[in-house]
Amino acid sequence: MPKSALSFVCQNCGAAYNRWQGKCDACGEWNTLAEEDVSGATTMPVSIRSKRKGRLFTLETLTGKTQDAPRLSSGMTELDRVTGGGFVRGSVLLVGGDPGIGKSTLLTQATSLLARAGHRAVYISGEEAVAQVRLRAERLGLADAPVQLAAETSVEDIVATLSEGSVPRLVVIDSIQTMWTDTVESAPGTVTQVRASAQALIRFAKKSGAALILVGHVTKDGQIAGPRVVEHMVDAVLSFEGEGSQQFRILRAVKNRFGPTDEIGVFEMTGLGLREVSNPSELFLSERDLGSPGTAVFAGIEGTRPVLVELQALVAPTSLGTPRRAVVGWDSSRLSMVLAVLEAHCGVKLSGHDVYFNVAGGLRINEPAADLAAAAALVSSLTNAQLPTDAVYFGEISLSGAVRPVAQTSARLKEAAKLGFGRAVLPESARGDVGGDAGLSLNTVAGLTTLVADIAARGQSRSSKATEPEKNATPARFRRQDG
Ligand code: TYD
Ligand code: MG
Repeated sequence: MPKSALSFVCQNCGAAYNRWQGKCDACGEWNTLAEEDVSGATTMPVSIRSKRKGRLFTLETLTGKTQDAPRLSSGMTELDRVTGGGFVRGSVLLVGGDPGIGKSTLLTQATSLLARAGHRAVYISGEEAVAQVRLRAERLGLADAPVQLAAETSVEDIVATLSEGSVPRLVVIDSIQTMWTDTVESAPGTVTQVRASAQALIRFAKKSGAALILVGHVTKDGQIAGPRVVEHMVDAVLSFEGEGSQQFRILRAVKNRFGPTDEIGVFEMTGLGLREVSNPSELFLSERDLGSPGTAVFAGIEGTRPVLVELQALVAPTSLGTPRRAVVGWDSSRLSMVLAVLEAHCGVKLSGHDVYFNVAGGLRINEPAADLAAAAALVSSLTNAQLPTDAVYFGEISLSGAVRPVAQTSARLKEAAKLGFGRAVLPESARGDVGGDAGLSLNTVAGLTTLVADIAARGQSRSSKATEPEKNATPARFRRQDG
């Protein structure tokens, strides 16, 4: 059946309908359907397609020779870490993030460094004029880098220009939403245009072997705007995150065909562009509020790198019928679980309290190992008992209230020792794989009850001799009585 030329396309997911409707059946979003001309959506005219005969190609074996240097280092360690060791030849990367977070800055720096290293690097801006990009480069002190720069939006012109001369090693398209191609009729920015433009650019990258970076905008709810299909078309999706008010920026791989997805790159936005932060723990702990109840330091692992971060909890009596639970940087269902275990197994009554929970520095934690640190912060806030300032916490809490071992204990301990921490509160069974070389005193806890009792004891001793500073609290109090 021939498709009518006009169609209503959901601007969120790309589903097409013959008539307008209020809600997209495919993704459930309201008011996202817009009228588009999709007659040319298949990028090749039908007449050519039907006449073309199949071209013969050679089939290869798995053990064939690969081209040398399949990865191109960007010159920025944090960026390479997230991509899995550099840009892969002919691969396509989508970088998403809120407006103003620093996507253009990051990619200007990366292209400049590559160009300085003698590679052909091209930066195409569809959003800013050449003069604006130059101004930014000047500010970054990179104006002398031999980057090839253009302000263009026509995909055909871009592909034609890039095909001239030697193959560029890196092409940045900032942003894919501003690109348009002649092969489809819809306006720039619509789903059909974004998809067709991305297709054409990706085809160029695969054919020529140039690494391509597409910048994508992010919608209010944090998804990369335009069709989700672009995410499926590219090899890797990186998301650039951070609080506008804070200087930290975190680059995270959401999808990566050529590397791990659990690595993060940490940057700091300065007056001179993005600075790489090779030791994030120092940054996350730099503004620590020493000695207030409700904070605990979690020794976590992000990808292959240990990261120490402060968890903050505020537990306050509620004035509402249903107490509030607000979480930033952690999974809210994980918090509910820890609260439920505290209520059920440790006799900690929290149903009459509001609970606010925050991960300092704008980091997002996905590890279950954060359970123990979170529980310590919560109990500390509830009992108004300050935790020892030189202790780190990690361990997973099971629904039975037991504290379960987590992976990479020794890496966590080493990082804590390096940053001057004196003791670690950790699962009992973890002691075996420590090796005893970390130089920390280890307080193992088998169950959550032990931890709660220890913290409560600290709170009581504090109120009984209210003037004594907590710094000299003995580690013994944190140890289980039976050893
Ligand atoms: P930009 O890279 O233009 O963001 P995006 O492309 O993601 O929209 O970054 C814009 C912000 O970064 C802007 O608020 C200013 C700030 N900035 C600095 O703080 N220092 C700098 O050296 C530069 C270039 C930008
Ligand atoms: Mg920009």
